[in-house]
Amino acid sequence: MTVAHTRTHPETLAPEALGPVTPEEAGLLKKLDLARLPRHIAVIMDGNGRWAQKRHLPRVAGHRAGTQSARTTIETCARLHVEALTLYAFSVENWRRPKAEIEFLMQLLRDYLRKEMPLIQKNNIRMRFLGRPEELPAAVQKDTREATAETARNTGMVLSIALNYGGRAEIVDAMNAILSERNGNAGAQAVTEELLARHLYTAELPDPDLLIRTSGEMRVSNFLLWQIAYAEILVTETLWPDFNRARLLEALLDFQKRERRYGGIDSERGAAAR
Ligand code: FPP
Repeated sequence: MTVAHTRTHPETLAPEALGPVTPEEAGLLKKLDLARLPRHIAVIMDGNGRWAQKRHLPRVAGHRAGTQSARTTIETCARLHVEALTLYAFSVENWRRPKAEIEFLMQLLRDYLRKEMPLIQKNNIRMRFLGRPEELPAAVQKDTREATAETARNTGMVLSIALNYGGRAEIVDAMNAILSERNGNAGAQAVTEELLARHLYTAELPDPDLLIRTSGEMRVSNFLLWQIAYAEILVTETLWPDFNRARLLEALLDFQKRERRYGGIDSERGAAAR
């Protein structure tokens, strides 16, 4: 299995790439090593409901506010030349929510795709959707297919929206894809980690280096179970609608302080043992 290493950026990325920044963002950008950003960032966007409750608003107002954080995160990551960003928008477990909230979320996604397409195109972003599309409403399936097709030739960041996604479902789907591929093929070889990874929804992407979860819960919630094997996990108390560009830059700075060992030992202890 390929382990995603921090990318060393070939060209120099100018801090101006982000456009106008606040003094707080400028201070954070100064500390950030733009050549050592994660290649793939995965985000569990949690806390929309609590954000709304705190303001005595209906839960759906939190989801609506959350789209602004999604926009900021997508644009900032694309401009920083992060290779892949994966956002957890709707899980296979989310069907247990009230029907009205599910319908709102589906419509919000459709509106979002329509409204944000110019920004996606302008930033050369390639969109894909991870999950089981066949269980989504027909109109959502159509819109997601179109967004995928319209951005298929873009060469910048890969933006994956996990929609009707479950980590266990993904592994089961990969196994079934392998079984149907080798139907009747008696000489088939053993299933390896590499073979399984090639059949996951994320096949061409590096594994996430950084998993961000907003709103404080210490859970993985069935997200990218296979792929986060070596990811750095960052849980922030910030609720998703409050996760602005400064909070994202802080998360990237935190990532750069971590020591990544991939099951080995750190270089100093390694040197001492040799
Ligand atoms: C979790 O908050 C959030 C969701 C289930 C939906 C995520 C959707 C968005 C952020 C908006 C759409 C995004 C895109 C990319 C179009 P929660 O409702 O579980 O919050 P709570 O834990 O406080 O109740």
